[in-house]
Amino acid sequence: MTKGSFLFLTGVFTVISLLSFSRVSGLWQVTKSSPNCTDISFQNCTPCQAGSYADETNIHCFCCMDHLGLGVCTSPDYCVPCPAGYYNNDNGSEVCFKCGKGSFSNSTGQTACLTCPQGTFQDANGASNCTPCVQGTFQNETGSTSGCYNCTEGTYCNKTKCESCDKCPAGYYSNTTGTVNCQSCSKGTFQDANGASNCTPCVQGTFQNETGSTSGCYNCTEGTYCNKTKCESCDKCPAGYYSNTTGTVNCQSCSKGTFQDANGASNCTPCVQGTFQNETGSTSGCYNCTEGTYCNKTKCEICDRCPAGFYSNTTGTVNCQSCSKDLEISGD
Ligand SMILES: *[C@@H]1O[C@H](CO)[C@@H](O)[C@H](O)[C@H]1NC(C)=O
Ligand SMILES: *[C@@H]1O[C@H](CO)[C@@H](O)[C@H](O)[C@H]1NC(C)=O
Ligand SMILES: *[C@@H]1O[C@H](CO)[C@@H](O)[C@H](O)[C@H]1NC(C)=O
Ligand SMILES: *[C@@H]1O[C@H](CO)[C@@H](O)[C@H](O)[C@H]1NC(C)=O
Ligand SMILES: *[C@@H]1O[C@H](CO)[C@@H](O)[C@H](O)[C@H]1NC(C)=O
Ligand SMILES: *[C@@H]1O[C@H](CO)[C@@H](O)[C@H](O)[C@H]1NC(C)=O
Ligand SMILES: *[C@@H]1O[C@H](CO)[C@@H](O)[C@H](O)[C@H]1NC(C)=O
Ligand SMILES: *[C@@H]1O[C@H](CO)[C@@H](O)[C@H](O)[C@H]1NC(C)=O
Ligand SMILES: *[C@@H]1O[C@H](CO)[C@@H](O)[C@H](O)[C@H]1NC(C)=O
Ligand SMILES: *[C@@H]1O[C@H](CO)[C@@H](O)[C@H](O)[C@H]1NC(C)=O
Ligand SMILES: *[C@@H]1O[C@H](CO)[C@@H](O)[C@H](O)[C@H]1NC(C)=O
Ligand SMILES: *[C@@H]1O[C@H](CO)[C@@H](O)[C@H](O)[C@H]1NC(C)=O
Repeated sequence: MTKGSFLFLTGVFTVISLLSFSRVSGLWQVTKSSPNCTDISFQNCTPCQAGSYADETNIHCFCCMDHLGLGVCTSPDYCVPCPAGYYNNDNGSEVCFKCGKGSFSNSTGQTACLTCPQGTFQDANGASNCTPCVQGTFQNETGSTSGCYNCTEGTYCNKTKCESCDKCPAGYYSNTTGTVNCQSCSKGTFQDANGASNCTPCVQGTFQNETGSTSGCYNCTEGTYCNKTKCESCDKCPAGYYSNTTGTVNCQSCSKGTFQDANGASNCTPCVQGTFQNETGSTSGCYNCTEGTYCNKTKCEICDRCPAGFYSNTTGTVNCQSCSKDLEISGD
């Protein structure tokens, strides 16, 4: 004999002479209007335990409806555990109650629901679990009924169930809410602080050639310059220009008396004696002093005419020659 049929017969023998029956799904079943436990006079009248309820389809009587919680189930065996998502904290109660929003029960027969932990929420009743916050969001409170918050700018969460978002580390930033992964600072910028929503651009005269810099920018080296912000590298000074300091914004043009024919120079080449350069920014070299003129020093911007009694019949003259052939006099 199966347990079910044994119980069925027990119920029948006990109540058969006392109750009216109705036929439900092939089983004799006590109606809801049945007299209470005392009237039925069950020997083993036991209330359903908290966390369980009377199973109306297989049972032969119901738990009492009275507020005293005096049950009428013939045996605790007739009570079935509340399913996950429900609870019953009331001995003798006929029904289970749905867990409220923000709570859950993940196993059967619970007498109370559990509160959704941080990092999760539940916006429905009768839940058997809580919904984890997705990446980029967090929930810092227990029992949330509404959802998760987006990570704020400068913070991120790259896993589910975040209870709080972490600050972007130095060298990284986040300029949107709901960030899963912070962005690394691009070349030409840096960030030395945690929790940043942007990166600091390199100022003019400096550069950053790597992404994710945490320390700052480098000065342009001598011979190079950067005349804008966010330089990823410095440009070489063009021919005719030079830079003899670090951190140069604009190269200097070669002064008169000098020239520079190469890029990236940290100085200019002085005109040698006998030559001159009358313009700034020369890229090509110096001119020979013309006949009749001379220059007896370096960096001449212009050649002087040979003084009276002296002459020069060649270009590039350093010292004019005396008209009296046995003398040669310095022109200065
Ligand atoms: C249950 O039984 C008690 C005792 O006989 C009686 O006083 C009470 O009225 C009954 N309750 C119902 C709902 O019939
Ligand atoms: C139910 O949830 C609790 C709390 O999160 C956990 O400790 C337990 O293992 C879970 N039980 C099952 C059966 O999932
Ligand atoms: C949780 O985070 C929200 C949104 O940032 C904030 O308003 C609230 O005060 C925080 N609660 C606690 C307990 O920190
Ligand atoms: C999340 O971010 C941390 C810190 O940057 C990192 O160590 C970890 O590997 C990341 N996890 C995933 C899954 O991306
Ligand atoms: C975030 O930064 C990126 C890269 O600098 C930029 O393209 C984007 O416009 C920024 N978004 C906001 C909302 O500032
Ligand atoms: C949360 O972040 C997501 C993804 O960035 C965005 O689509 C959504 O609008 C944000 N919600 C709020 C309330 O800021
Ligand atoms: C970036 O520039 C610095 C300073 O000049 C140098 O030490 C470093 O090797 C450079 N890095 C790369 C990737 O070129
Ligand atoms: C920067 O230098 C370049 C090359 O010399 C020049 O074309 C540009 O106008 C300069 N920009 C500024 C803002 O000075
Ligand atoms: C750079 O050049 C200028 C002009 O020639 C000069 O006055 C200055 O002393 C130089 N500075 C250095 C550090 O050489
Ligand atoms: C960078 O250049 C600036 C301006 O020329 C100067 O004041 C500073 O000392 C330089 N820093 C380094 C590390 O060379
Ligand atoms: C500089 O000298 C050269 C060669 O003599 C000449 O062609 C040029 O016109 C001069 N420039 C100026 C600005 O005087
Ligand atoms: C400049 O003068 C030097 C020395 O007199 C000479 O060797 C050279 O050929 C001259 N160059 C030109 C372009 O006249």
